[in-house]
Amino acid sequence: MAAGPEAGPPARRRVLYGRRRGHRLRPGRRRLLAELLPRLEIRLREGEPLDPAALFGDRRPLWLEIGFGDGAHLAAQAAAHPGIGFIGVEPFVNGVAALLARIERGRLANIRIFTDDARLLLAALPDASVARLFVLFPDPWPKRRHHKRRLVNRATAAEFARILAPGGELRLATDDAGYARWMLEALLAEPRLDWLAERAADWRERPADQPPTRYERKALAAGRRPIYFRFRRL
Ligand SMILES: C[S@@+](CC[C@H](N)C(=O)[O-])C[C@H]1O[C@@H](n2cnc3c(N)ncnc32)[C@H](O)[C@@H]1O
Repeated sequence: MAAGPEAGPPARRRVLYGRRRGHRLRPGRRRLLAELLPRLEIRLREGEPLDPAALFGDRRPLWLEIGFGDGAHLAAQAAAHPGIGFIGVEPFVNGVAALLARIERGRLANIRIFTDDARLLLAALPDASVARLFVLFPDPWPKRRHHKRRLVNRATAAEFARILAPGGELRLATDDAGYARWMLEALLAEPRLDWLAERAADWRERPADQPPTRYERKALAAGRRPIYFRFRRL
């Protein structure tokens, strides 16, 4: 049987395929992990939902970025929207340290961080709790036998729809044409999500209010053309 986006792991157990650590961190970054991360880290209790109001002590709108990499996009959005509360998810420790450096440098007070598999956080988030969700350049896993590792599939599409508030927005990007088709198949099958594209420019061009990511810059430098998707939660 051909593997499609319906093939995906269940949402409630940890499934991490990428590496969690890279090169040895400089002392400054190690200090940020030891001192700043504990103040910003989201810790889940087994089987308990997350209370979004407890994150920032109020009911501000929440934007979520899954797999923020080095945090360039997340930190820029947080600086541009100080009234929004941001949750960043990234299991790669060096990426977390890079975001922490941006938070410290920019004195950003509106970011919380989850350092594990995004599926665990999705499962803990209440219905309609997130106003905007970014999944930018998730690992493409281009080999057919690795397709089941892809983060976007029908199971996560259903979770995206569940946690998004009505009118909320899901934004995705990839530079892998096969993954783009796979994402579309999974997301178009989700009846609570409406694809916002009206013309080719809508999926060929990055939304103007969305700063580029590190992976995106590399893809463009290598001559690959990313594809962008925006979906509205009905
Ligand atoms: C190709 S990189 C892109 C990073 C960043 N979004 C960018 O565009 O520069 C994919 C990121 O997803 C993260 N990732 C992989 N599996 C994940 C998971 N289960 N939950 C959250 N993030 C994950 C990886 O650690 C990696 O940093």
